[in-house]
Amino acid sequence: MSKGHVLVTGGAGFIGSHLVDTMLARGFEVTVLDCLLPQVHGDADMDADGWPVYLNPAARRIRGDILDDGVFARSLDGITHLAHLAASVGVGQSMANIVDYTRNNTMAAAVMLETLTRHQHGIRRMAVASSMSIYGEGEYRALASGKKMAPPLRSHQQLLERDWELAENGSVLEPVPTSESKLLQPASIYAVNKRDHEDMFLSVGRALGIPTVALRLFNAYGSRQALSNPYTGVAAIFISRLLNDQAPLVFEDGEQRRDFVHVLDVADAFATVLESDLQAWEICNVGSGQAITVNEIARTLARLLKKNIAPEVLGKYRVGDIRHCFADVSRIEQVFGFRPQRQFEEGMRELIDWVATARKPVDRSSTSMAELAGSRLVV
Ligand SMILES: NC(=O)c1ccc[n+]([C@@H]2O[C@H](COP(=O)([O-])OP(=O)(O)OC[C@H]3O[C@@H](n4cnc5c(N)ncnc54)[C@H](O)[C@@H]3O)[C@@H](O)[C@H]2O)c1
Repeated sequence: MSKGHVLVTGGAGFIGSHLVDTMLARGFEVTVLDCLLPQVHGDADMDADGWPVYLNPAARRIRGDILDDGVFARSLDGITHLAHLAASVGVGQSMANIVDYTRNNTMAAAVMLETLTRHQHGIRRMAVASSMSIYGEGEYRALASGKKMAPPLRSHQQLLERDWELAENGSVLEPVPTSESKLLQPASIYAVNKRDHEDMFLSVGRALGIPTVALRLFNAYGSRQALSNPYTGVAAIFISRLLNDQAPLVFEDGEQRRDFVHVLDVADAFATVLESDLQAWEICNVGSGQAITVNEIARTLARLLKKNIAPEVLGKYRVGDIRHCFADVSRIEQVFGFRPQRQFEEGMRELIDWVATARKPVDRSSTSMAELAGSRLVV
């Protein structure tokens, strides 16, 4: 017997499609709602009906845009669980496309939630994809006092001087794992959208008595990641450059630290909170808990791809970028008993193996760099 029926918005995308597989494997029925954005799916292999070939055939499919009248309401038939992953996902791109991003990320949440307040439905749990980008800078510790702190973004002046690290009263601050209680300092329109949609889901979920969990995803990587979309996914972008015999382009000095989490760990995190029977309205980080520099990623990928190409350090700064952010993953373990399982190097090997079998990616980094520079967003 089925454990329930989950609607995965954005279920044809990178993370959503893995979640579809995971939920089916765990005994759920699954419906995908996706509008198949051309920027995400334009270069992918599609089947005769226009869906990505990797999408699990056992899932029911609805091609539609959440923003279009009645599409979400019509998708709710028989649905017991909602996983909301549909979004426009480019941090840099959001700064030049503010109206589109706010419509697709914030207004789409409003449409969904208003539908839930006005229509009969059987949804008994919701999980939404939030993002580490809403933190802005990660969490730090002042070396002198030992106190944790949430420093503001680096000033324009500091960045013009190519002085990359966070400091207070002349002494450098130590980055520490970022916890959910850290002050939110979203530094892009995408991040503002994600913060707002997280709050919207939690407040309406509480009001309707539907347990709701917002998962703040760190940098997800893995198969099915859009290789030719220059605005998302640094690992995919670097592989795309290296396969085209070009150096990965690294902002600042490349020593900024991030947290790379395997897409199957992200899918397992969603599945865990959706399957839980806790009456909870929670916010949890989903990361690997391991910090890695952008240079290390570029070097690891070059080594695994057997390309003798060093990263090209640009010494430039992208407006809205942060210096260090990696996850404190203790909360999701305390509340839901979930721990990430996959190791970085092994995960990157899998990513490369998948890329080798995927279509040769089109490298569009130069175009996106020119677009960002043209809109005064790279300094
Ligand atoms: N990939 C990451 O590292 C990462 C990190 C933090 C948060 N997230 C969040 O996770 C979610 C999934 O990200 P992803 O990397 O899989 O992105 P993706 O672009 O691969 O997938 C998003 C999917 O949503 C669909 N979509 C977009 N707008 C839609 C709409 N209005 N109606 C219906 N479908 C729509 C797209 O066609 C696409 O298939 C997003 O909400 C994103 O903000 C991702």
